[in-house]
Amino acid sequence: MEHIVVLTGAGMSAESGLKTFRDENGLWEGHDVMQVASPQGFAKNPELVLDFYNQRRRQLQDAKPNAAHKALAGLEKDYKVSIITQNIDDLHERAGSSRVIHLHGELFKVRSTYNPSDIKPWRKDLHLGDTCERGHQLRPHVVWFGEDVPMMGKAIDTCQKADILMIIGTSMQVYPAAGLIHYIPDETQVYFIDPKPNITGSSRLTVIAEPATTGVRKAISLFNL
Ligand code: APR
Repeated sequence: MEHIVVLTGAGMSAESGLKTFRDENGLWEGHDVMQVASPQGFAKNPELVLDFYNQRRRQLQDAKPNAAHKALAGLEKDYKVSIITQNIDDLHERAGSSRVIHLHGELFKVRSTYNPSDIKPWRKDLHLGDTCERGHQLRPHVVWFGEDVPMMGKAIDTCQKADILMIIGTSMQVYPAAGLIHYIPDETQVYFIDPKPNITGSSRLTVIAEPATTGVRKAISLFNL
């Protein structure tokens, strides 16, 4: 069975009503990303950071997978599909995708600030004073700027086995995620779907300058396997 690997970014969930990071002058829901997505920001104002993710968590409870999430889930009928997402939402899973690697963590999980592998599901608000069993403050299970990306090894292995790579809704500005494209085999076809594609051409690259919901369908119709 051919292996379709999909790298998704914030644009994938834009039509589900979740804002992207860099479309509005570098502000994420009105905040400087370094304020709410860095260890320094958390050290400086933990309350503001926890409240910010509480709002994101509540917003995600009400969001629904869009047609593009569903189209990717539907591909599993005919192909092996691996999704590598930079998104912290769970919309790929809710659409029915079974193999999802979260490079930048998951909004519905928290972890101990003392032991990063002490991770647990969490759907409600998180406050100062909410602790792990050993008494240490819990924090969002999200990869912030400057932090390690523990799922990178698995993502690289996955890209090395891609027959087709689809890249959807990402500005390709954040590393190491953006560097994954360099790990695919030479013959792998690449489809890049984004209304403002930030990538240069090569013979194996097809750029579809459309929103995810229409662009994913178009890319699938062009697969040549
Ligand atoms: N369909 C597809 N793409 C879209 C849509 C849409 N409807 N709307 C916007 N886009 C595209 C934009 O053109 C842009 O290229 O989505 C992309 C969003 O880019 P960013 O906001 O930079 O998001 P992303 O690439 O996912 O950011 C990477 O940065 O802040 C960190 O950890 C955070 O995972 C995030 C990482």
